[in-house]
Amino acid sequence: TQRTLVLLKPDAVRRALIGEIIGRIERKAGWTITALELRELDQETLEQHYGEHKGKPFYEPLVAFMSSGPVVAMVVEGERVIEGVRRLAGPTDPIAAAPGSIRGDYGTIVRENLIHASDSEESAIRELKIFFPGIG
Ligand code: GTP
Ligand code: MG
Repeated sequence: TQRTLVLLKPDAVRRALIGEIIGRIERKAGWTITALELRELDQETLEQHYGEHKGKPFYEPLVAFMSSGPVVAMVVEGERVIEGVRRLAGPTDPIAAAPGSIRGDYGTIVRENLIHASDSEESAIRELKIFFPGIG
């Protein structure tokens, strides 16, 4: 069984969509939320988290957006949950995301796409260490 890091981004919190998004995760049979916290992210955390994008044109606006308000950080556990939450979220660009996916239903622009979910087992391990260092 896998663990993934999910962040409900500041737009999701501002638009009061966290209940709706968490509900979709909870409705998926066999997945469990094992940690959850509303928090503001500092620059160091964001630099670690989005380090792979440093130097890209969207990096600075992305970090500014991600620190524009609190996020909900959570750990979700379950069978193939890494792939599963990515599918629930839909593609990065909300315009390309199908209706029925979180980004397809609620997304507006590519930067403000509501949710982050680890994209591989390797990323999940790396990101969980950043956000929930206390978890084995
Ligand atoms: P995350 O779950 O947030 O990591 O999204 P992702 O894995 O679907 O996308 P990726 O890791 O490639 O990019 C991280 C974030 O940067 C995205 O969620 C977008 O908010 C933003 N982003 C990625 N590509 C672009 C782009 O071409 N333009 C802009 N403006 N933002 C982008
Ligand atoms: Mg990503």
